[in-house]
Amino acid sequence: MKVTTTVLETRQLVRQWKKEGKSIGLVPTMGFLHEGHASLIARARKENDIVVVSDFVNPTQFGPNEDLEAYPRDFERDSALCESLGADLIFHPEPEEMYHDPCAFVSIDTLSETLCGKTRPIHFKGVCTVVSKLFHIAAPDRAYFGQKDAQQLAIIKKMVLDLNFDVEVVGCPIVREEDGLAKSSRNTYLSAEERKAALCLSKAVKKGQELIQAGCSAEDVLAPMRAIIEAEPLSKIDYVSMVDALTMQPVEKVEKDVLVAMAVYIGKTRLIDNFSYEV
Ligand code: PAF
Repeated sequence: MKVTTTVLETRQLVRQWKKEGKSIGLVPTMGFLHEGHASLIARARKENDIVVVSDFVNPTQFGPNEDLEAYPRDFERDSALCESLGADLIFHPEPEEMYHDPCAFVSIDTLSETLCGKTRPIHFKGVCTVVSKLFHIAAPDRAYFGQKDAQQLAIIKKMVLDLNFDVEVVGCPIVREEDGLAKSSRNTYLSAEERKAALCLSKAVKKGQELIQAGCSAEDVLAPMRAIIEAEPLSKIDYVSMVDALTMQPVEKVEKDVLVAMAVYIGKTRLIDNFSYEV
């Protein structure tokens, strides 16, 4: 497995692979890899000749009071995991390699204004910008993203459609701990007590799935979900919402495919979870 830190080296390798007629699967990550990322890499391995993993904590998607500095990092461990999963290349640039006093950004309207976009107003602009850059650098045929970040996935799909990127965006299922907690690099911030409290998210997801299957309208799904979370003293709801799966706009009735998504603070840690429902 190769490791690159510059755009130039990465492009040279990618050009050579393309010349040889090889297909490329890209797994964009911010490192500190867990089983969720491993599932994306494994899927990319199955579907492509070459697997590129990017490992970059992207500063432009963090707001001023967010956890950019604290975000967990362990490149040695990431690199060993990627190698064991059969990745061909990890691209691990420094921030200075990716950003030189930038003036050009990619942002997307409407879809990025609801859910996480309300609390994190610059987040999706940073995500779309770095993902566009990675698409230009690694020129993937397919790119793999987790459904845990369902709004991010919807936004990237729309960006690819609107800006004519020649890449297939593949969404992969949420990977959970045995007790239901969705895997996340941020779970490492939780104390033992908070780790237990964090189960209120997946419990609320389970309840919401039952209610939506029983034919309930949005508020009748969301109110009992909120009640489960509010019963946990260490939790504070950022949002629990039902939105149209494509536009990310709130809905009152389940008439089209929907996303039911939540962001909840457990202590100081902001966790997200969701489920989709197809009509
Ligand atoms: O989902 C993430 O880890 C990040 O938002 C991504 C897509 C790697 C962009 O930095």
